[in-house]
Amino acid sequence: MEIPFSRWYSVVPKRRSRRHFDPNRPIESGSLAALDRMCREFRPFPHARSYLVSEPAKDVFKGVAGGYGKVRGAPAFIAFIGDMRAPSVQEEVGYTGEGIILEATALGLNTCWVAGFFRPETVASLVEIKDNERVLAVTPVGYTSGFESLAERLMTGFGLTHRRFSLSKLVSRWPVDNLPEWAKVSLEAARLAPSAVNRQPWGFDVDGSGITVFVRTSGPEFNVAKRLDCGIAMLHIEVAASNFGIQGAWEPLEAPRVSRFVAANTQGSQK
Ligand SMILES: Cc1cc2nc3c(=O)[nH]c(=O)nc-3n(C[C@H](O)[C@H](O)[C@H](O)COP(=O)(O)O)c2cc1C
Repeated sequence: MEIPFSRWYSVVPKRRSRRHFDPNRPIESGSLAALDRMCREFRPFPHARSYLVSEPAKDVFKGVAGGYGKVRGAPAFIAFIGDMRAPSVQEEVGYTGEGIILEATALGLNTCWVAGFFRPETVASLVEIKDNERVLAVTPVGYTSGFESLAERLMTGFGLTHRRFSLSKLVSRWPVDNLPEWAKVSLEAARLAPSAVNRQPWGFDVDGSGITVFVRTSGPEFNVAKRLDCGIAMLHIEVAASNFGIQGAWEPLEAPRVSRFVAANTQGSQK
């Protein structure tokens, strides 16, 4: 299917991870059906898929000490599943899942990627998981009260986890002030992407006709692959580039590089 890029691009700055949901407000049936359809139809890679479970997710999420609290009250959840035989499975699940997260946001729903603190065995009792497949992450789906509760604000360090690095920290080789406009717009969207513990592990190399996404940070992954975060940023890059009028395709790369967005039509779009 074609990416609804202007719809998804418009919600990139609005999306926020939310963890406390209104348990008494079921998801409107039209929105639920639209999200379910999107999970089935947005399959850009054969080895990554999303599955909507429209029943309360109460035993799926685990609580932890420290900054991450338990997700509560969600009337539904989505499992992001990858076939582990595929070498690019992590970024493919990140890319696919973020499309679903942005669609949910556009439908007025709230979400939160959760890759660390959920029970895969509970998910597997509700979703058919094939041999070689693994549930890499889940998201609760539902409505929140609008404002973050005090508990939620504590969990996000009163907004600290929404902060992002500047582009100059993330972009190598090309001076940020002099980036082609399409690349700047795309990287600004990538910068806003969510990542596990807000670690923002991505780096970007810009050249005349493309953007290479690579893992910039060293250090442990803490059970959540940094390539999954990079896949999320890749979706943001493509959505923003398409919205700017630049089409392209992804070329998988060897670690620590992840993938290169090869723009098909940058002629005439340079600053
Ligand atoms: C792959 C991934 C895994 C995450 N895992 C968790 C998690 O286990 N628990 C949680 O509360 N938040 C989790 N988050 C949410 C991040 O903490 C959040 O995206 C980040 O702090 C940035 O905040 P924002 O999404 O509101 O912009 C995860 C996010 C991503 C992308």
